[in-house]
Amino acid sequence: MYFMCLFIVASLLANSLCEIKDGKKAPRIQLSDGNAIPALGLGTFLGFDEHGQKEVTARDVEDPVTWALDAGYRLIDTASAYNNEQYIGNAIRKTSVRREDIFLVTKLGSKDQRRVLDALKDSLERLNVTYVDLYLIHNPVAFKPDESGFDIVDYVDTWKGLEEAKKLGLAKSIGISNFNESQIERLMANCEVKPTVLQVEVNLNLAQPKLLDFCKRHDIVVMAYTPFGTLFQKGGETPPPKSDDPTLVEIADKYKKTTPQIVLKYLVQLGVVPIPKSTRKNRIEENIDIFDFELSNAEMDTLRKFNKNYRTVFPSFWQDHPYYPYEKKDVPDPDPFKGNH
Ligand SMILES: NC(=O)c1ccc[n+]([C@@H]2O[C@H](COP(=O)([O-])OP(=O)(O)OC[C@H]3O[C@@H](n4cnc5c(N)ncnc54)[C@H](OP(=O)(O)O)[C@@H]3O)[C@@H](O)[C@H]2O)c1
Ligand SMILES: *[C@@H]1O[C@H](CO)[C@@H](O)[C@H](O)[C@H]1NC(C)=O
Ligand SMILES: *[C@@H]1O[C@H](CO)[C@@H](O)[C@H](O)[C@H]1NC(C)=O
Repeated sequence: MYFMCLFIVASLLANSLCEIKDGKKAPRIQLSDGNAIPALGLGTFLGFDEHGQKEVTARDVEDPVTWALDAGYRLIDTASAYNNEQYIGNAIRKTSVRREDIFLVTKLGSKDQRRVLDALKDSLERLNVTYVDLYLIHNPVAFKPDESGFDIVDYVDTWKGLEEAKKLGLAKSIGISNFNESQIERLMANCEVKPTVLQVEVNLNLAQPKLLDFCKRHDIVVMAYTPFGTLFQKGGETPPPKSDDPTLVEIADKYKKTTPQIVLKYLVQLGVVPIPKSTRKNRIEENIDIFDFELSNAEMDTLRKFNKNYRTVFPSFWQDHPYYPYEKKDVPDPDPFKGNH
């Protein structure tokens, strides 16, 4: 009896120590190919400034990824277009978290659609890993290799390269980003391996109920990019809610959480995988600290009502491409990438 108790206490202790060391917080969601994706991850795109894409430094990437892994994140989202893969790789190598416990996502650049396997191998080399957990077509819109203009590459052909990558074990799972419903339907009618994941913008302003329902029916897990939408934008030009919105604050107070935590929890309960980006330690820790409470159905309905079908990420400068996925503007915005897609 005594030894039995000792054994139970010891194994409980070992388990909890293990959990602390392992630190994983987000549960995993099953993918249609048998793999599993953590329910929340870290976004790593640093965004734009007046010169175009912000200059990427090791510090801006390695520290946040290290903090995230220490805080229990196991999903890291990057892309060849973010110019940060080598720093992501450095951070992963420096931590004590095992590679096989990390779900690493990268994306095929728009200028690389005619060289999928080579582009993936370049990413793997920069990341210094032998495989990624998920490889996504970043955009159905393709560019010429020198980025001098559009290239017309059928995404069904590009997808064949991703299927090959999965067969070779270079990507455990494959998926798409910024595809619309009819594009996904066309892809599924013409592929061998179904996409497991669609990464698109989902947040309070852009709830995408129809697209989410479509994906659910087809067993495609949705990753929610730009999960905060307009939450932190100043001024009245963009739709509510902002982070001091009284309705959000009331729900947040009830659970002793912050409004960004309520937004992330709402997305998780919708069944999508938010990938909030932050380069600050306290926010990175805050954003994953959402797995100890549950929003009620009534609160979910209240939050659903903020939907305005408003896009924060609206790449209308690509709208003349035949595979442009979104609604068009009368006058497209100037290209903020300035040739660096
Ligand atoms: N597939 C695609 O085409 C695509 C497109 C867009 C984004 N993405 C991916 O999705 C990720 C997330 O999207 P995003 O970066 O556009 O937007 P986001 O994650 O919705 O918002 C990021 C902004 O919120 C701030 N923030 C984060 N947590 C906060 C908190 N707890 N309190 C207050 N402010 C907070 C960050 O500032 P600080 O960093 O200063 O904390 C940053 O300015 C990207 O990094 C990228 O990995 C993919
Ligand atoms: C790649 O990772 C291996 C260990 O897995 C390490 O020995 C090597 O130095 C790394 N290469 C670079 C360029 O960081
Ligand atoms: C979806 O993308 C196709 C281009 O492949 C486009 O013709 C169509 O209008 C898009 N659908 C919507 C609803 O925007």
